[in-house]
Amino acid sequence: MEISVTVNGQVHRREVEPRLLLVHFLRDTLGLTGTHWGCDTSNCGACVVWLDEVPVKSCTVLAVMADGHRVRTVEGLAGKDGLDPVQQGFRACHGLQCGFCTPGMMMTARWLIDHNPDPSEEDIREAISGQLCRCTGYENIVRSIRWAAEQEAVTVAAPRTEETTVDTVRETAADTGKEVQA
Ligand code: FES
Ligand code: FES
Repeated sequence: MEISVTVNGQVHRREVEPRLLLVHFLRDTLGLTGTHWGCDTSNCGACVVWLDEVPVKSCTVLAVMADGHRVRTVEGLAGKDGLDPVQQGFRACHGLQCGFCTPGMMMTARWLIDHNPDPSEEDIREAISGQLCRCTGYENIVRSIRWAAEQEAVTVAAPRTEETTVDTVRETAADTGKEVQA
């Protein structure tokens, strides 16, 4: 059957088999291999994407169920100004080793910070509790997500203008007691 799915803002119309999973539609049909497929049991969470603003395991969703809906994948995380703070956080805090779980972790992290701009360690651990990482021990993933939240709080406190400098952001961070680890 023909489906029409808006992925990262771009409309894709494709003929698909009714049994095709969304994760395979993204990877094999659209070539968006940033979304990973890590298990056959819906346990690993490497396949997490947003379906209409909600994180879902794309191996548990049929492509036809996304017909007429919006999907956001890790390829849609960076904006015109560069990497998303979540991506920057994973880089700054070494939130990945092999990187297999990372796209799913980052999609969940983005959703969490959008809904809870100041998540505690407990909040973060709960948000990613449906996702597995066999490398990092989770410690640096939690740190990465906290880093992103703190970075965004500073940026909101000191909106960037043409005159805004890194020093301005750091001064504002000092005023607000936030620590910038960049
Ligand atoms: S591929 Fe493992 S939960 Fe989706
Ligand atoms: S970084 Fe290797 S599975 Fe998480």
